[in-house]
Amino acid sequence: MRTVHSLKELRTILRGYRQQGKTIGLVPTMGNLHEGHTSLVRKAAEASDIVVTSIFVNPMQFGAGEDLDTYPRTLMDDQRKLAEAGNTLVFAPNAEEVYPEGLANQTKVVVPEVSEGHCGASRPGHFEGVATVVTMLFNMVQPDIAVFGEKDFQQLAVIRKLTRDLMIPVEIIGAPTVREEDGLAKSSRNGYLTEDERAVAPTVFQTLKETADQLVQGRNDFGTLEQAARQSLTNAGLRPDYFNIVNSLTLKPASGQDQEITLLVAAFLGTTRLIDNLSVKR
Ligand code: PAF
Repeated sequence: MRTVHSLKELRTILRGYRQQGKTIGLVPTMGNLHEGHTSLVRKAAEASDIVVTSIFVNPMQFGAGEDLDTYPRTLMDDQRKLAEAGNTLVFAPNAEEVYPEGLANQTKVVVPEVSEGHCGASRPGHFEGVATVVTMLFNMVQPDIAVFGEKDFQQLAVIRKLTRDLMIPVEIIGAPTVREEDGLAKSSRNGYLTEDERAVAPTVFQTLKETADQLVQGRNDFGTLEQAARQSLTNAGLRPDYFNIVNSLTLKPASGQDQEITLLVAAFLGTTRLIDNLSVKR
């Protein structure tokens, strides 16, 4: 498995693969990889001949006071995990390679509607940063397919829409959330949790499951269910950012007629912000 840091080198290598008629899969990441990421690489390897994993801690998607500076950079460890998962090529550019003119002068991609609310409301500019870097990665790698985790449900919706709206010829594949045995969704940020916080963290998924059960039983009083879920999180020692019951496609508040409903949650444990989601069909 090779690692390249420059776009020029990346393009030269990928040109060679395309000339051999190989299909290319992309797995965009910010590194600090765990089993959630390697499951994306395995999925990409099933759907394409060559898997390119990008590792780039994208400054544009971090807000002021967020963890850009402390976000773990673990390239050597990541390379080992990627090689084991069947990855072909690692693209690990630095910020100057991706944003040669700096962030202030960078053309940006804004995705209306699905970027709004939920994480978009709590983290202004976040999805603009994600949409911009993902569009750039699509142009750099020109993959046939790209795989993203369903754990970042709103991010996946943003990426699906930008791909459709900008007519980018890449198939977007969503991959199921990988969980710890106690249900906690795997996340690079779980490493920030203290031992006590880690013991409380599974409450996020438990609360999702309990609320989903109520929906499957036919409850349509979504406001009451959201309020009860926020209270359960608070009682367990979390600080809920939001707990929203939405239409799975539009991410707008769910209505009683919706057959596909998703529960979206973000909550703080100490300074760590955890997100998760669960979809139900009715
Ligand atoms: O999900 C992530 O790790 C990031 O948001 C992504 C898609 C790699 C863009 O920086």
